[in-house]
Amino acid sequence: MNDSTLTPARPPAVAVVYESLFGSTRSVAESLTEGIREQLLATVTPISLASPSADCDILVVGAPTHAHSLSTPASRAEAERWARDRARHLTLDDSPHTTGMREWLERRPTARLGYVAFDTRVDMPRIFTGSAATAIGRRLKKYGLREILAPESFLVDSHSRLLSTERDRAVRWGREIAEAALALTDETARIPR
Ligand SMILES: Cc1cc2nc3c(=O)[nH]c(=O)nc-3n(C[C@H](O)[C@H](O)[C@H](O)COP(=O)(O)O)c2cc1C
Repeated sequence: MNDSTLTPARPPAVAVVYESLFGSTRSVAESLTEGIREQLLATVTPISLASPSADCDILVVGAPTHAHSLSTPASRAEAERWARDRARHLTLDDSPHTTGMREWLERRPTARLGYVAFDTRVDMPRIFTGSAATAIGRRLKKYGLREILAPESFLVDSHSRLLSTERDRAVRWGREIAEAALALTDETARIPR
C-alpha cells in the first residue's frame, strides 16, 4: 500500500477525489488540479465515480464540512432541502449524492506515497466550524497512509458560496502539492516543459 519504490523515470501520479453538494468543493478540486498539472499528471473525480483502489501515488481528498465533520445521509438530505429553498439561491452539484466521503473512506482507499486532505468550510475560526479535512486525515492515517502536506481549508460565506480569493489560492496550493510529491521522488521525474 505505502510502497515508495518509484522508478526515478516515472513522475508521481496524483488522484484528486472530492465530494461536493453545491459545487464549491468541486471548484476547489478543479483549481488545485490545475496547479498540480503544471508539473504532474493528475485526475480529478467526484466520489460517486472514484474507485478507492485507483492506481495512484498521491491521493488528494476533499469534502465540505457538515456539522463540524464529514457529511452524513442526514446532512446531505438537509443540503438538498437548502437547494430546494429558492431564497438560498443554491443548486445541487451534478453528481449523485446518495453516498458521501465518509462512506467512500470506509472502503479504505490506497495510494503508494501518501495523501493530502482539504475541505471547504465557513469563513469563521475553525473552533466554531470544525473541519472535514481533519476527519479525512484521521481516517487515512488509521489506514497507514502518510500525510505529505498539512491539510488546507478553503472558505465559503454564510450562504455556502466560495469566497472569491479561494480559486487562485487552490491553484497555488496545487503547485505546493506537486512540489511535495516531487520532493518524495527523484527530481528527474519532472515532466519536461
Ligand atoms: C447540513 C449542513 C451542515 C453544515 N455544517 C457546517 C459546519 O459545521 N461547519 C462549516 O464550516 N460549514 C458547514 N456547512 C456549510 C458547508 O461547509 C458548505 O455548504 C460547503 O463548504 C459548501 O461546499 P460544497 O458546495 O462543495 O457542498 C454546512 C452545510 C450543510 C448543508
